[in-house]
Amino acid sequence: MAGIYLHIPFCKSKCSYCDFYSVANTKLNDDFVNALCKEIELQKEYLGNEKVQTIYFGGGTPSMLNGNQIRKILENIHKYFNVDLNNEITLEANPDNLNTEYLKTIKSLGINRLSIGIQSFDDKDLLLMKRRHTVDQAIESVQNAQNQGFKNISIDLIYGLPEMTIEKWNKNISDALNLKIQHISAYHLSIEPNTVFHKLHNQQKLNLPSEDESINQFKLLKDKTAEKGFLHYEISNFALDGSLSLHNTNYWMGVKYLGLGPSAHSYNLTSRQWNISNLHQYLDVILKGKIPCEKEKLSKTEKYNDFVITSLRTMWGLNTEKLKSTMDEMYEKHFLSKAKSFLDKNLLVNLGDNFLLTEKGMILSDFIIESLLYD
Ligand SMILES: C[S@@+](CC[C@H](N)C(=O)[O-])C[C@H]1O[C@@H](n2cnc3c(N)ncnc32)[C@H](O)[C@@H]1O
Ligand code: SF4
Repeated sequence: MAGIYLHIPFCKSKCSYCDFYSVANTKLNDDFVNALCKEIELQKEYLGNEKVQTIYFGGGTPSMLNGNQIRKILENIHKYFNVDLNNEITLEANPDNLNTEYLKTIKSLGINRLSIGIQSFDDKDLLLMKRRHTVDQAIESVQNAQNQGFKNISIDLIYGLPEMTIEKWNKNISDALNLKIQHISAYHLSIEPNTVFHKLHNQQKLNLPSEDESINQFKLLKDKTAEKGFLHYEISNFALDGSLSLHNTNYWMGVKYLGLGPSAHSYNLTSRQWNISNLHQYLDVILKGKIPCEKEKLSKTEKYNDFVITSLRTMWGLNTEKLKSTMDEMYEKHFLSKAKSFLDKNLLVNLGDNFLLTEKGMILSDFIIESLLYD
């Protein structure tokens, strides 16, 4: 079992908060798709003979690709990889691209899961975030997708935004739930270097919520989604039963994945590698028949640290049997001794063989996970 991630590095313009790798030069679109198809061939051995269960078009803005380009990419994946016929194929999409014609086309190509970037149901927020759509357009894009028969729709939201009050966030969550979608990814705003928000933050021009307000927004999200039957299966991810993102779940479970395109990361149980975050250099190197990546063999400690980071964020938590059977004893000892104080403070809970973050623990997850790592 394995996954393939495709990084589509184009955005019409850059949003104020985002530092994911993308460029605005869409003239390179066709050159990029040709290079990506070449990379698919060059990387055909990476997953061994593992069945590809999930394909994920991420970005950037994958919905800027047209139907022919998506078809070509999928045909090449099928040509060089052993693809499961019941696969999950996700496309990250911006609301301004999702017209009826486009939705029909991508559905006919086998895209069966959409992840739509709505971010906020408040037009003022969207303006500040430099999004290219209004709230009405965002709602219409979800309804269009539902009318075209998409039954697995996720939306992205951001909380902890400037000027965000609990009342405003409450309305955002209600608006999201009213759309009858199957999945919500809700991230707390992080201020990333080289973004417009970073500059405004340094100039003290962003009125961000306090830590307590952020915590209350997270709790409200947890409660309101739970009331509607959503499983909180990872710190930032909520899904109705049967609609968990298989691609991301596999990633958190430590399944192999191949990342293609500039800035994409890959992992094959023993090493990880990452492609160069530069489109021009990516195109040049791929055309010469090479893969523009750096590679790192994972040490035992890195494997342990990866295991802690990925598993503890999920509702399944960290399984000590797996820890025992796959890692040296010293890592288990280290984990158990460090975990004790968090158990005592009710930040972690131990259920059978699993250690899980409590609600309080989730709020402090970065600190707790950091403390459990081995250095
Ligand atoms: C890589 S983006 C791609 C999605 C798509 N291009 C879009 O804009 O809808 C994936 C998601 O990450 C989230 N994100 C990106 N930067 C973030 C930040 N600095 N803080 C919180 N969430 C962020 C947004 O919710 C975004 O939709
Ligand atoms: S949030 Fe999406 S559209 Fe905005 S810059 Fe990031 S990748 Fe591009």
